[in-house]
Amino acid sequence: MDYTMEQYQQSAQALQQRLGDFRPRVLLILGSGLGALADAVENPICVPYAEVPHMKRSTAPDHKGQFVFGKLSGQNVAVMQGRLHTYEGWSFQDVSYPVRVLRLLGAEAMIVTNAAGAVNTSFSAGDIMLITDHIKLFGVSPLCGPNLEEFGPRFPDMSHVYTPALRDVARQTAKALESVYMYFPGPQYETPAEVRLARTLGADAVGMSTVPEAIVAAHCGMQVLGFTLCTNMAAGVLESPLSSDEVLEAAAQAGPRFGALVKGCLARL
Ligand code: HPA
Repeated sequence: MDYTMEQYQQSAQALQQRLGDFRPRVLLILGSGLGALADAVENPICVPYAEVPHMKRSTAPDHKGQFVFGKLSGQNVAVMQGRLHTYEGWSFQDVSYPVRVLRLLGAEAMIVTNAAGAVNTSFSAGDIMLITDHIKLFGVSPLCGPNLEEFGPRFPDMSHVYTPALRDVARQTAKALESVYMYFPGPQYETPAEVRLARTLGADAVGMSTVPEAIVAAHCGMQVLGFTLCTNMAAGVLESPLSSDEVLEAAAQAGPRFGALVKGCLARL
């Protein structure tokens, strides 16, 4: 469904009423295993997605489905505790809807995290990677449909979706491997042949999120910083089959380390 400017504005107004004079500067979209970071937000104002007009719910396991507004590492943040995915049946426009709402509320930057399978065989499960670029070949774009000029141009440049200056901030905060993330729609994990395809195309990791939100954020002029946690080697790299239990366990284990990295970057923004 194509949303109108009025709908984005209605959502922004509803949230602003809950927030009083609080202005979020950074939007954090947390993937599997990182939801706990939202619990560290000071003076939190929690708003379930169900209370935001036009916004869809998060149904993925381990995704709570609420915004948490407040201070984290000295920054005014809006944390999405649980993101939306297209495999839940939502469209790309649905999934990226909150990014534009937060832009209307004044957010200038977005930090996005995800769990993914490592395609690059020099990576290991548990590695955290800084996203330098992405590949999205499947499905339509979240920018399909009438262009809302208030947000950005019809044909936006995607040369620097993951803002170089923020990548420098990440490099100063911790040593993270750098990677190209390739979007697959899921919910099934990739086949070994798809993973070989991803590797041939230059991808280092494969996952089912992040890219729709990053495209929309770049379109509306937000700075973007993205991190991937490799929870497993992608299909076919090892003999063993993939399991979502393994993914959630690896994400939970890396949670504190990942959280510290995100907080460190936030403090330097
Ligand atoms: N593929 C896609 N998404 C994922 C994976 C994977 O191997 N691991 C965690 N999320």
